Amino acid sequence: MTSTTPGTRPRVFSGIQPSGAVHLGNYLGALRNWVSMQHDTDAVYCVVDLHALTLPKEPGEVAQGTLDIARILLALGLDPQRCVFFVQSHVHEHAELGWLMQTVASYGELSRMTQFKDKSARSSGFISAGLFTYPALQAADILLYDTEVVPVGDDQRQHIELARDVALRFNARYGDTFVIPEHRIPVAGARVMDLQHPENKMSKSVDSPQGTINLLDAPQEIEKKVKRAVTDNDGEVRYDPADKPGVSNLLSILAAVTDGDPEQLAGQYQQYGPLKADVAAALIALVEPIQARLAQLDDATVRAELALGAERATAIAAPVMDRAKRACGLLV
Ligand code: TRP
Repeated sequence: MTSTTPGTRPRVFSGIQPSGAVHLGNYLGALRNWVSMQHDTDAVYCVVDLHALTLPKEPGEVAQGTLDIARILLALGLDPQRCVFFVQSHVHEHAELGWLMQTVASYGELSRMTQFKDKSARSSGFISAGLFTYPALQAADILLYDTEVVPVGDDQRQHIELARDVALRFNARYGDTFVIPEHRIPVAGARVMDLQHPENKMSKSVDSPQGTINLLDAPQEIEKKVKRAVTDNDGEVRYDPADKPGVSNLLSILAAVTDGDPEQLAGQYQQYGPLKADVAAALIALVEPIQARLAQLDDATVRAELALGAERATAIAAPVMDRAKRACGLLV
C-alpha cells in the first residue's frame, strides 16, 4: 500500500521514551532533527509511555516523566501547529493494534531482537512479557499512521525491519492494509561522546553525570563539565577520533552546535583551554533560550497541547485501525 500522492510531504513517525533527562547527545543526535523535519515532512511525534512500562516503574514515575519530556520537547521547538505531538497511551489504537501485531509477529523473530536480549540480560529479576513483545507495539505505532519514514538511530534498525516484516506479512495474509515503512538514519545526527569516557556514547542509561551535559544544566554546571572533560597529554588540537577521542569529541560538539566543520575548527586552536572555553560558551548559548522557553511553559499548557495532539493523532489512527480490523476478519 502506498500513501504518497505526488507533491505531498512524506509521513514521518518517531517516538521517544519518557525516561531520564534530555542530554546533548539526544538533542544533537535526534531531537534537533525532529524540530527541523516539522518544516518539510508530515511529522508525527509520540512520547511512548506504554513502552516505558516494559521495565518496572514506580507509581507516578511515567506520568511525571511524560510531562517533563513533553515540556522539554515543546521548549526545544516542537510546534504543535506544524507536527502532531501526543502521548501513546492517549490514543487507545496503539494498544489495540499492538495486540494484532503480536498475532502476526512470530515468537522466533521476537526472540532474535538484540535489544530484548540485552535488556533482559541486564535486568536484575523480573522480565515482563511486554519487554519481549515491545517491537510489536513499536510496529503498531509506526503502521497506525501510514508512516513512510522512521528517522531513528542505528540501534533501532532491527525493530524497524521487524515493523516492515510484520506489515508485509499482514498485507500478504489479509490483503493490502499497511504502508511499508522505511528506516532512515537522521543525516544531521552528530555522535556525541561522554566527556569523561570519550570512547563511549553520551547515554542516559550509563551513570556518568560528569560526562553528560543535560539540556537543563545551569551554565556554571556546563562550564565545569566542559573544563573537566578528558583530553590527552600531547597538547595538540587535532581532529582524530581514533587517536584523540576527547579532543575530537569537543571539536565535533562545537561543530554541531555552531554548524561548522570539526577539522577546520581544529586549525583555529593551539591549546585545549581556549577550545574548551568556546565549547562551553557555544553550549550555554544553545541551552539558554531553551531553558527560558521551558520556564514559560506550565503544566496546563503542556497538557492542553498534548490533548490537542491526541485528537489529531486519533483522526489519523482510527481509520487505519478500522481498516486493520476489517482486513483480519474481526466483526466490526
Ligand atoms: N524503541 C524506540 C527507542 O527506544 C522508541 C519507539 C517506540 C519508537 N515506538 C517507536 C521509535 C516508533 C520510532 C518509531 O528509541
